[in-house]
Amino acid sequence: MSNELKSFLEGLDSLAQDCESRKGQACSLKALEELRIEFLGRKGRLAGLMGCLGKLENCDKPAGGKKANEVKQRITELLDGWESELSVAESSQALSKFDPSMPGRRPWAGSLHPVTLVMEDICNVLGGLGFEHVSGPEVENDWHNFEALNIPPEHPARDMQDTLYVSDNIVLRTHTSGMQIRSMLKQQPPVAVIAPGKVYRRDSDLTHTPMFHQIEGLLVDHHVSMADLRGTLTVFVRKIFGARTEVRFRPSFFPFTEPSAEVDISCVMCGGKGEADGHTCRVCKGTGWVEILGCGMVDPNVFKSVGYDPELYTGFAFGLGIERVAMLKYGIGDLRMFFENDVRFLEQFA
Ligand code: PHE
Repeated sequence: MSNELKSFLEGLDSLAQDCESRKGQACSLKALEELRIEFLGRKGRLAGLMGCLGKLENCDKPAGGKKANEVKQRITELLDGWESELSVAESSQALSKFDPSMPGRRPWAGSLHPVTLVMEDICNVLGGLGFEHVSGPEVENDWHNFEALNIPPEHPARDMQDTLYVSDNIVLRTHTSGMQIRSMLKQQPPVAVIAPGKVYRRDSDLTHTPMFHQIEGLLVDHHVSMADLRGTLTVFVRKIFGARTEVRFRPSFFPFTEPSAEVDISCVMCGGKGEADGHTCRVCKGTGWVEILGCGMVDPNVFKSVGYDPELYTGFAFGLGIERVAMLKYGIGDLRMFFENDVRFLEQFA
């Protein structure tokens, strides 16, 4: 064998060995492609060696060509083998990865309490009518809660049965009406305020809880009339319960309003028919009406206690229970649901 042929064949062998030793480098399909170009590319190392084939003696060429083909095939097999190993590995890795087309898993963010929802609803409607939102203390003195509202010391509303006393003179407010007094003391008419908040009474049964929420409304100006009260409450009720809701005023009594009324709306359950599916409606008990708030024209004695001249000004006030509105609006039958904080109940308001 000629020396030229010998070194040509050795060159081919070491090329094949070199390729074998590079397995560790083929760690990605991209790196593998680079190896393929290095060894088998048009300007690659095998092509470089093949350039020497033409310089061999004619009698050496068949042997040289045969070996070159074997080495080319060997290298091709190596590279192909690594490639299929890699693509199996890469695709199983891809499968175990996060799929960006999947909808994300949302953590449950909670929801507003139905009392809060209704409170916001009511405040938005009344705010839209021009009433300003005010708030005041839940621990109130006797004067704001009773005396200034024309509720004298002997009045039954002060009975120990109803009022939670902190001391002789301090109570947990039994209604938000004390905010009428606080608002009027702060400014001269015109006054247009709403005061939402917690109130407390010594009452606890199926339909009463010791704490519940009210919203107070007060409008004072020249020439405010009962018609303004009726118009305001009708608009308000229809915004909250729907445009077809009917409103009815029933004579009533509150010490701080004269005349006073209780307002009923056509039953949200049966639409005022008094029955549903041939049964007496359980919400309005067949009457077709449900009570939703108390109201009236501000009593002159209340104006006197805040230093407003009852000859100059008139006004109306109303107060409503928020839990009551929420029960009617969402068809909730049991008042206690609002306070148990059962997530299965609360999450329905998300
Ligand atoms: N404060 C009364 C109550 O708690 C409601 C009310 C407010 C009535 C304002 C008339 C005017 O029942």
